[in-house]
Amino acid sequence: MAINSAHAWAIFISGQGSNMSALMDLRDECPMRLVVVSRPGTYGELRARRSGIPVKILDKEVNWLELVQELKNMGVTHIFLAGFMKIIPPEFLKAWGRPILNIHPSLLPKYPGLNSIEKAYNDGEAIGVTVHQVTPEVDGGAIVLQQCVYKPDTLKDYSLDEAEFTVHTAEYQLVRRAMRRASCWT
Ligand code: GRF
Repeated sequence: MAINSAHAWAIFISGQGSNMSALMDLRDECPMRLVVVSRPGTYGELRARRSGIPVKILDKEVNWLELVQELKNMGVTHIFLAGFMKIIPPEFLKAWGRPILNIHPSLLPKYPGLNSIEKAYNDGEAIGVTVHQVTPEVDGGAIVLQQCVYKPDTLKDYSLDEAEFTVHTAEYQLVRRAMRRASCWT
């Protein structure tokens, strides 16, 4: 599958930025124009600034339509939410009208929302990671890629900390696969 040469990404983050860093490994083949940060002062912001990719800090009250215009003016065609903790409002989705991906550490549609690894672990349920398209429904939207990391019967051999570490490592592989795949979308 040929990568669409006219595409360019913006990565949206709020926290540590470890998924963003994983995605940046692809920057030679998947151009990255902007990192959008909702929480200034985080390690994610520092990592983004060190990368040399332009960084935009969001205001507390985001003007979502202005942000769409800014992204379009910069030639951004694809967005990856990599640990972005703000809800993307419907007016942004409508005005943007192009692919937006999100990484979530569960086997969606199970365990949407916060603390999903811990919840699945405590329930003794399978744990995995999902990249999906963003819709107005939080952690809803069509699944692009999904990977099971722990089946219920293997979980008992691992602590929650160990499980979280392994799931996050699996996220880094999945986000890169999803970015490569979505880079072919026009
Ligand atoms: C990841 O587990 C992501 O799936 C979730 O928030 C976490 C962000 O971690 N939505 P990081 O900022 O990428 O290190």
